[in-house]
Amino acid sequence: MAGLIPQWFIDDLLNRADVVDIIDSRIELKKAGHEFKACCPFHNEKTPSFTVSPTKQFYHCFGCGAHGTALSFLMEYDHMDFVEAVETLAAQQGMEVPHEQGVQPEKLRADDNLFDILQQAGDYYRNQLKQNQAAINYLKDRGLSGEIAAEYGMGYAPSGWDNLTKLFGESKLNQLKESGMLTENESGKVYDRFRDRIMFPIRDRRGRTIGFGGRIMGSDSGAKYLNSPETPVFHKGKELYGLYEARQAVRKLESFYVVEGYMDVIALAQHGVRNVVATLGTATTSDHLKQLFRIVPEIVFCFDGDRAGRDAAWRALENALPIMRDGYIIRFLFLPDGEDPDSMIREHGKIEFDRLASKAQTLSAFFFDRLSQDIDMDSADGRSRLAQLAQPYLQKLPGGVFHEIMLDQLAELTGLSADRLSKVTQLNQEPAIRKPDKPAQRQKNPHIRHLITLLLQRPDLAQLVESTDEVADLDLPGSDLLKDLLAFLHDRPDAHTGAILEHWRDNEYGKHLAKLALTEIELDAHRLEAEFKDTLSKLEHFRRNSRKQILAKIARGELPTAEEKAVLQQTANPADNNENL
Ligand code: GTP
Ligand code: MN
Repeated sequence: MAGLIPQWFIDDLLNRADVVDIIDSRIELKKAGHEFKACCPFHNEKTPSFTVSPTKQFYHCFGCGAHGTALSFLMEYDHMDFVEAVETLAAQQGMEVPHEQGVQPEKLRADDNLFDILQQAGDYYRNQLKQNQAAINYLKDRGLSGEIAAEYGMGYAPSGWDNLTKLFGESKLNQLKESGMLTENESGKVYDRFRDRIMFPIRDRRGRTIGFGGRIMGSDSGAKYLNSPETPVFHKGKELYGLYEARQAVRKLESFYVVEGYMDVIALAQHGVRNVVATLGTATTSDHLKQLFRIVPEIVFCFDGDRAGRDAAWRALENALPIMRDGYIIRFLFLPDGEDPDSMIREHGKIEFDRLASKAQTLSAFFFDRLSQDIDMDSADGRSRLAQLAQPYLQKLPGGVFHEIMLDQLAELTGLSADRLSKVTQLNQEPAIRKPDKPAQRQKNPHIRHLITLLLQRPDLAQLVESTDEVADLDLPGSDLLKDLLAFLHDRPDAHTGAILEHWRDNEYGKHLAKLALTEIELDAHRLEAEFKDTLSKLEHFRRNSRKQILAKIARGELPTAEEKAVLQQTANPADNNENL
């Protein structure tokens, strides 16, 4: 998605927006020296460790490590996705977001055609519903009002084999097939996929119809539900039924219920529970959860209390563990046997549903309950068995407060001290999260690192380097980044630190840069320049030295490796000619 907005625009946008303005309009900042401070909005704290730097144009919390630019703040704090954040920031600056033409024009045009077809099919089904008393009665019997059916765009697919082909005409046959609305039998005959079914359009976050679910009305023959197949615009593992409608209905969402069925979503909505989505007959994926956590901090799974429901909940839990950041809440509401959210709310109403929901099990309670269900917790053996069972799961958690809480609970349940636990399970021998910095395969060059740090401190220092050829060197770790950074800053002499971080955000170097950007270097402007020049010449010295070493090796009669040859080529310059050869 981000690829559709050109990078130059994002760079430009960040240079104009002020991170202090953006944050200050949401949480109150206090001036502290050159910077601004506040209590961190991303974790609970009493003394402010959240710092915003107007010169570097980024924020950082020394408590929880949250950091980023104006754009990432909007994404984290206002739960926007990247495109929304860019659009919001642009609107504030009175800039219009250009969308790059010709990124994948073919694919975009093809998708547009599919969206058109799906939209028109949905319109057709809604029209048909108005004319079919049996379908209307079915929905009424299930307790739905005309308003809620309209909000969710429900319709009715009449019986017959070629309604859609007649509607769209033979010329659209291929697109109809691609949209998943037609199906083909073994002898190659093509016909309407959905016949005599109640239709549920599945919409993406922008409200475009991307697929359908269709339910038979009786309980007679055939599958109860049919869903659109995967198509270029419909991916079940990514989409959530009801997400668009929930966002339309509630301005400020605070939590989401995740349920299993289309009818569960609609019945809850009918009774005023609007913050509800369903997966599309698949397990809840990490993708699903990440999407929801971008909007709300809390997710409540609302599944049947039977075995299937508990298994589905456990799978959801497993997919949640790796993405559990501090502040995220997941809970599980298991309904009494034989009930689903639809029957539950129709029988007992919203108040009772809310009451049950408020008592939903926490992730950790469900986790330890389930793991210990077949264990005799009264025996020491049993308790250490629990510790062993828990270990691989806890290792999937990112480090942080939540990870510690889970460890503490395990310690409490097992009666084993954290120390002893680490012996039984080796829990602490490996960090829960592998540090994003890649271990250096090759020796790091301290000069390159220092130059990058200085540039992050004062991006304008880049202008002291005449051409990136000065560092076009040695295939050293980090030298590519340094070169790219200098090129970027030559192109955009007005870029500040935040703009740099944003430029490299999705890149393997992004995290690394963010860390280096935090380094405070206590030097005044002149000393900083001197330091930069000095480091540059040290690097130059290093470069010549290694060139020297290679040449010396050749002089001794050894053959240079391919890499060494490359170094010689890259560092060749006229001044060297009379040096060693
Ligand atoms: P109702 O019986 O109308 O209340 O349906 P429901 O929405 O409560 O669905 P249920 O709990 O039976 O199933 C949950 C979800 O699983 C459905 O919404 C569908 O997405 C999917 N599903 C259920 N039955 C079938 C089926 O026969 N075929 C397919 N492909 N999916 C199904
Ligand atoms: Mn149901």
